[in-house]
Amino acid sequence: MRSREIRQTYVDYFVKNGHLHLPSSSLVPPSGDKTVLLTTAGMQQMTPFFLGVQTPPHRRLTTVQKCFRTVDIDEVGDPSHLTFFEMLGNFSVGEYFKEGAVSFAWELLTQVFKLPEDKLYPSIFPTDEEALELWTKMIGLPASRITRIEDNWWGPVGKTGPCGPDSEIYYDLGPEFDPDPDARVGDSPRYLEIWNLVFMQFNRDTHGVDTPLPRKNIDTGMGLERLSLVLQGVSSIYSTDLFQPIIQRAADITGKRYGANEKDDISLRVIADHSRAATMLITDGVLPGNVDRGYILRRILRRAIRYGRLLGQDKPFMHHTSQVVMDMLGDIYPEIIERKNHVFAVLADEEEKFGHTLQMGLNRFEILIENNPLDTKIVSGEDVFDLLATHGFPPDLTRELAEERGFEIDWEGFERAKQKHSEASTNPDRWKVARVDLEDYKALGLQKTPFKGYETTSLETEVLAVLVNGKRVKSADAGQDAEIVLAQTPFYVESGGQISDTGYIETEFGRIEIENTYKPVGDVVAHQGKVVEGFIGEGQKARAVVDEVRRLDTARNHTGTHILHQALKDVLGNNVGQAGSLVSPERLRFDFTFPNQVTAEQLVQVEQIVNDKIRASLPVTVNVLPIDEAKKSGAVMMFGEKYGEVVRILSVGDYSKEFCGGTHLQNSGQIGLLLISNEGSVGSGLRRIEAVTGRGAEKYIGERLQLVDKLASVLQARPEQLVDEAIELKRKLRDTERELALLQQKQALAESSELLKSVVEVEGVRVLSAKVNAPNADVLRSIGDKLRDSLKSGVVAIGAVIKEKPSLLVMVTPDLVERGLNAGKIIAPIAEKVGGRAGGRPNMAQGGGNDPEKLDEALSLTIGLVRGTIK
Ligand code: SER
Repeated sequence: MRSREIRQTYVDYFVKNGHLHLPSSSLVPPSGDKTVLLTTAGMQQMTPFFLGVQTPPHRRLTTVQKCFRTVDIDEVGDPSHLTFFEMLGNFSVGEYFKEGAVSFAWELLTQVFKLPEDKLYPSIFPTDEEALELWTKMIGLPASRITRIEDNWWGPVGKTGPCGPDSEIYYDLGPEFDPDPDARVGDSPRYLEIWNLVFMQFNRDTHGVDTPLPRKNIDTGMGLERLSLVLQGVSSIYSTDLFQPIIQRAADITGKRYGANEKDDISLRVIADHSRAATMLITDGVLPGNVDRGYILRRILRRAIRYGRLLGQDKPFMHHTSQVVMDMLGDIYPEIIERKNHVFAVLADEEEKFGHTLQMGLNRFEILIENNPLDTKIVSGEDVFDLLATHGFPPDLTRELAEERGFEIDWEGFERAKQKHSEASTNPDRWKVARVDLEDYKALGLQKTPFKGYETTSLETEVLAVLVNGKRVKSADAGQDAEIVLAQTPFYVESGGQISDTGYIETEFGRIEIENTYKPVGDVVAHQGKVVEGFIGEGQKARAVVDEVRRLDTARNHTGTHILHQALKDVLGNNVGQAGSLVSPERLRFDFTFPNQVTAEQLVQVEQIVNDKIRASLPVTVNVLPIDEAKKSGAVMMFGEKYGEVVRILSVGDYSKEFCGGTHLQNSGQIGLLLISNEGSVGSGLRRIEAVTGRGAEKYIGERLQLVDKLASVLQARPEQLVDEAIELKRKLRDTERELALLQQKQALAESSELLKSVVEVEGVRVLSAKVNAPNADVLRSIGDKLRDSLKSGVVAIGAVIKEKPSLLVMVTPDLVERGLNAGKIIAPIAEKVGGRAGGRPNMAQGGGNDPEKLDEALSLTIGLVRGTIK
């Protein structure tokens, strides 16, 4: 049975049995979910249903879910591990429980897929007698066929959430997979776990305590890849029709044959898995980066590229393998086809970038290993960091390379090195909302706080709950940080890029300044801030007021973003895709995918269009529609956003039409002016544009004008002469520098003739080692050339302190290279003495270090290094 048919049969079976088929959710969890970086299980999109904080569209559900698990990345390459996989699942939200799950699973496996009953071995949680009875009494298996396994407990994903005992179904692959007659279910490769039936009945809280969920639920998951292995009668998932076409393509490109040799097979499997996984991740909006999801993607891309290199493939190739993935899965997950060009662009960019440095990095790694003192098989943390920083080697890749050679990595040293260089790479916005214990929020039993902020910025309402440090209290006093839940709210909660409102809440008894809002559970809004007067208590009547000026500044940037988005499409073409945005009162930031540079002229054009639309005072209108109608209207959907049943479509005149939940202006004229303050590349095929509007634009221009005035006064020129003046100054400076360099060179060469007097002979070889005066590496090199030419035959080892650091140069004339002398070998210990490193060819090598004090002593090693090496 082909995998396509297996997938369909599964879904059809459960639909026939009253389940609603829901689409796979994205590999990137919704923005509010910080528990995991990527979707790892089919049940993730069901969590709010299991917790009872959201009502499911139906009580019986089934999905084919895109999943990605990172734990096995390093193992991918062997015949059984993978990263991306498809999980077949059926779910019951408080409907059928153990009995239903077991009988559906058994019927589907034995009656529909026709697996022989005697090859199926269930396992249970050790104390789950109810499950045991179902397998023995209801299904009729002898008790000896059921294994009790301690590990048969699922979840929660992250630290808290739904969990429960489970029952797994194993398939006996036969003694070829493990000849041991005592092979046991659960710890032998002979028995392959194919299906996990989870009896989801508990909720684990932050203290690790499990309490029963409102209702008992079912969550099952079966890997399509493993089921295909079994049904196709092959011995590895890589031999199924889910991987073979990708492997074949990789084999064709590299001129290899799968199955001909194990080393090549490993590479082909890595390429197949990683091409598939990368295609899916990029489609779902992940871009290669240095943290979190971006790092995972970068790691698999670079790993695939390196394994491609092992097969002799030094040109970009992943678009070929990715194309096969699209051909195979494009009709199941249409988003892959929609994002095809983007996927190719990201792959090409990463292959290009990493391809350039890969070989240099590999060479550098070889040198590290060769120069390592024999007794310590350890790669230093500094070196691992250096490979990352200069050659883009993810540390895991370096570890893999090191392990292949039997080396270990000094991870502590790596952390220290990283710390030293770290400021740049982390994103400060990331965990902006301090997540606290949410139990007390769940206990409120609320599903949502009605949002009135589209109509008004202030309203009368009631305080439903007050929390301090995550615990529900009766009231919070002046000076305390607190979180307030209201009966309804005008406060916007960060979403779709627009940041949260601020403002205050006032009651008869006190006042709290609101600094932030977030949704702790479901659509309940928590208002975070400090009580500044009196106290705020539960049950009090309250007035909630949003800072209107700030809201309006934000709205200018939000409506401005929509117009900008359309203008970018007008100028750059429709392949501009939104990749993220930030709308704050001060500015707007818009990330978009676009493979090329954006020229200055294009930016001017974009800005002109936007400002034309602003001056046209286009009306901003909102239309609330059911999702299906909205899609038909052709409005732009933001990628990766989760939309409900009903959506808002926001139009700016006829010019722009987008799905949007944000708060906007009444007409575009209120923006006043939009100025692009910055535009540049922020990653593979990804660009970022920043702009200011309204008061922000006014401030921006004011500052620029002041800057011009200041410059004019410093350069004593009129504003319109500034450019000519600056060009002239730069020219003069360049000429002066050139003259200076010539003079320095002349002087250095003159001094160097003196040095010839200090030549010594070692076993008939003329050796000159000396510290010289050289202001830069070029002069050092000229001195070296001159000395070598004067010697005709000999060894020159010179060093100079350049910008407070020692620089080294060793040269050996060709006749002596033939006789066994090697500049690279001579320089290495010298460089080590000054606390540095070096490299080069037999006739010339260069290096540097950190300790200028040791330079004389280091150079004096030269004679000893020449002695005894002449043939
Ligand atoms: N949550 C379980 C798993 O992922 C069953 O779907 O294995």
